[in-house]
Amino acid sequence: MKKILIIYASRFGQTEKICFYIQEQLLMKKLACDVVNIIALDETVNLIDYTHILLASSIYYGKHNKALLTWIDKYHDRFLNKIVGFISVNLTARKPNRDRVDTNIYTKKLMIESPYQFDIVDVFAGKLNYRQYNLLDRYMLRFVMWITKGETNFDTNKEYTDWGRIDGFIEKWLSLT
Ligand SMILES: Cc1cc2nc3c(=O)[nH]c(=O)nc-3n(C[C@H](O)[C@H](O)[C@H](O)COP(=O)(O)O)c2cc1C
Repeated sequence: MKKILIIYASRFGQTEKICFYIQEQLLMKKLACDVVNIIALDETVNLIDYTHILLASSIYYGKHNKALLTWIDKYHDRFLNKIVGFISVNLTARKPNRDRVDTNIYTKKLMIESPYQFDIVDVFAGKLNYRQYNLLDRYMLRFVMWITKGETNFDTNKEYTDWGRIDGFIEKWLSLT
């Protein structure tokens, strides 16, 4: 029987929303699934009962969450015989030619640098809501969006996540043995 653990890092809630959506889909399939924020994770969590683990992080200034990456570094020897996936959430992936593992700079980097070879990696577009960010972040991100020909209006509150692709990911991940 499959039992799933999802550990996520999210600052403004989009990665969290994706993870709880995945949990909802799994529960509908009558699968047991726990979801934990890396902030609340007991780092020595007992992984024995879990068959599947999903790690999820958003990108800030080019980087995945440090605490999550450190946890993977420290405990990946406990992943033996489990199906382990990683999903990255960022705004670069809003572009059609940057929304695949091999075309998105952050997942490409992760695959090269991670000490653990995940069974499955995917990347999804996140959310842009300028009003949520502090002044510095707001201007910095607007500059990045301007360079990449994205939305620069501070009233923008847009979810780019393609939920159909998340459904596809779930199916693929669960089918791995
Ligand atoms: C200050 C800041 C910096 C960001 N830096 C990047 C970045 O370097 N590359 C990128 O693709 N997206 C970047 N993003 C976009 C986030 O990854 C995106 O908004 C994501 O949905 C955030 O997920 P969260 O709500 O789970 O934290 C940045 C967002 C903010 C607010």
